[in-house]
Amino acid sequence: MKILVTGGMGFIGSHTVVELFNAGFTPIIMDNLDNSQLSVLDGLTSILGFKPKFYEEDCNDKSALKKIFQGERDIIGVIHFAANKAVGESVAKPLKYYKNNIGSLINILEESAMANIANIVFSSSCTVYGQPDELPVSETAPIKIAESPYGNTKQICEEILRDSVNSKLPIKALSLRYFNPIGAHPSGKIGELPKGVPGNLVPFVVQSAAGWREKISIFGNDYNTPDGTCIRDYIHVVDIAKAHVNALQFLIKNESPSFYDWVNLGTGKGSSVLEVVQTFEKVSGLKLNYEIIDRRPGDVEKVFASTEKADKLLGWKTKLTLEDGLADSWRWQQSLSR
Ligand code: WQD
Repeated sequence: MKILVTGGMGFIGSHTVVELFNAGFTPIIMDNLDNSQLSVLDGLTSILGFKPKFYEEDCNDKSALKKIFQGERDIIGVIHFAANKAVGESVAKPLKYYKNNIGSLINILEESAMANIANIVFSSSCTVYGQPDELPVSETAPIKIAESPYGNTKQICEEILRDSVNSKLPIKALSLRYFNPIGAHPSGKIGELPKGVPGNLVPFVVQSAAGWREKISIFGNDYNTPDGTCIRDYIHVVDIAKAHVNALQFLIKNESPSFYDWVNLGTGKGSSVLEVVQTFEKVSGLKLNYEIIDRRPGDVEKVFASTEKADKLLGWKTKLTLEDGLADSWRWQQSLSR
C-alpha cells in the first residue's frame, strides 16, 4: 500500500518515510526542496536499502499533484508535512505562510477526494494551544489566539479539515499536534538540517558543541519555573514518526465514510532550557558555553502534553527519552561538515 508523504525530505517527514517502510507501507515522497536537501535521499537509501520514489514537486502545483495521483495508482493515504515552519519568518512574511501552508492543504484535500484517497494525516503543532491554562495540556484545551502567523496557519488548517469532514467530503483525517521534536535516526544517516542559524534550541546546542556557534543564548531565566527558564516537552523524532504509522493504521481500520480528530504527540514530561543544556553536557561529556539574555518575544512559559488520548486512540506512547534525543542529535551533528 502506497502512502504519499508530502514534505518527506524534511526532518519529521524523512523519519516517517523510514517507519512507514518498516511497517510494510510503500512511501512515495513529494517535496519541493524549499526547506530540505536532496542529500536526505542518500541517507534514506542507506537506511532502507533502496532509493524511495521521490517527486521534486510543490503541493501548490495542482497539476503536479494530479499527475502523481494518476501515475501512482494505489495510494491509499497522504501524510501532509509540507509547510513552512519558522515562527520568526512567518511574522516577517505572513503572506508566504498563508499561501503555502493553507493553499497546499486545500490542494491535497481536493485532489485526494478526486482520487478516492480517504486517509489523511496532518502535521500540526502544540503551538495552537498558546500558553495553556492547565498543564499537562489535553486535546480538550481551548485554542488560544495564535502567537504567530505560522501558528495561525496550523489552527486554520485544522479548521479546514474539520469543516471539510463535516461537509461529508469523503475523507478520514487526524491532526497530530507535535510538541518539541528533537533527535535523529540512530543510524546517524538522517536528522535535522536547519537552514542558516537555527531558531530552535537543540539544533543550536549541538551546533555550539560542534564549534559552529560561539555560545548558546538562553532566552530569559526569570520565568515562574524551578530554574527560571522555559519548560517544553521534547519528543524524539523517531517516536513521532512511529505515531504517524499508528495514526494511518487507525484511519485505514476506521469504517466511517468521514472522520476527524486531533491528538497530542508529546512525552508528557516537561524539561527546562537549562535542563536540556545540562542533560546534553551529561550525554556528550562536553562543557557548553552559554549566557542568559532577555526573553524571546512570543515564548510561552510552560507547555507539555497530556498523552492519554494518543495512548487510548492510537495505542501509541513514547519510548525514547530526552537523553536519547540529545545523544542522537549529537551523533547526527558530528556526521555533518560545515
Ligand atoms: C524552546 C525553548 C526558547 C533557542 C517552536 C514552534 C513549534 C515547533 C518547535 C515547528 C524556548 C529556548 C531556544 C535558543 C533558547 N516548530 N531557546 N535559546 O519555540 O518551543 O517551538 O519550535 O513545528 O511549533 O513553536 O521551540 O526550540 O525554538 O525553543 O533559550 O537559542 O528554548 O526560549 O523556551 P519552541 P524552540
